[in-house]
Amino acid sequence: MFFWCACCLMVAWRVSASDVGHCPDPVLVNGEFSSSGPVNVSDKITFMCNDHYILKGSNRSQCLEDHTWAPPFPICKSRDCDPPGNPVHGYFEGNNFTLGSTISYYCEDRYYLVGVQEQQCVDGEWSSALPVCKLIQEAPKPECEKALLAFQESKNLCEAMENFMQQLKESGMTMEELKYSLELKKAELKAKLL
Ligand SMILES: *[C@@H]1O[C@H](CO)[C@@H](O)[C@H](O)[C@H]1NC(C)=O
Ligand SMILES: *[C@@H]1O[C@H](CO)[C@@H](O)[C@H](O)[C@H]1NC(C)=O
Ligand SMILES: *[C@@H]1O[C@H](CO)[C@@H](O)[C@H](O)[C@H]1NC(C)=O
Repeated sequence: MFFWCACCLMVAWRVSASDVGHCPDPVLVNGEFSSSGPVNVSDKITFMCNDHYILKGSNRSQCLEDHTWAPPFPICKSRDCDPPGNPVHGYFEGNNFTLGSTISYYCEDRYYLVGVQEQQCVDGEWSSALPVCKLIQEAPKPECEKALLAFQESKNLCEAMENFMQQLKESGMTMEELKYSLELKKAELKAKLL
């Protein structure tokens, strides 16, 4: 009876002591924090991630009177990247997604890339947003021909440039579309010559 009661009191004491004084033990996967053993109310701890991991969130937290932690615990995120996404009508090349690796994005035929083509894995994130592949509008092509013709027909270069830019403005083409049209034109000429 005596032992049972002593044990009972011990448990009660321990529960009440922890009720008064401690926060739940901190956790940080792939990292470390500046405490060992129970953390008392109003204590502050700091967090650090292991090599090859990057800390997301606050690197410190405090044990509050209501036995919660604030701000909440951070996480340690791998500095390697997740596999990148594929844009609609596009794809990427590269098979290394580790820290510092690069990949390149490409679009299918008839689509042009808007965004950053070459990207690097920096601290677990790809360096730019996923690019977009846009359909090249076929309609402005005759306009482009017209612009080129205007360019060829002019006697001096300044006038030629002016005419060309004028035609281009009227066509409503974007620079990307122009670039692509010129590439097509180049390919056409090359094919004719061979
Ligand atoms: C928490 O408080 C107890 C005394 O109540 C003390 O012995 C212990 O060292 C304190 N813990 C820390 C981490 O300061
Ligand atoms: C915690 O982060 C702050 C900046 O947010 C920095 O100045 C400080 O050195 C960091 N502390 C540790 C232990 O990493
Ligand atoms: C590519 O991956 C291999 C392991 O598969 C690794 O040894 C190499 O360092 C990686 N290259 C880069 C640039 O991260």
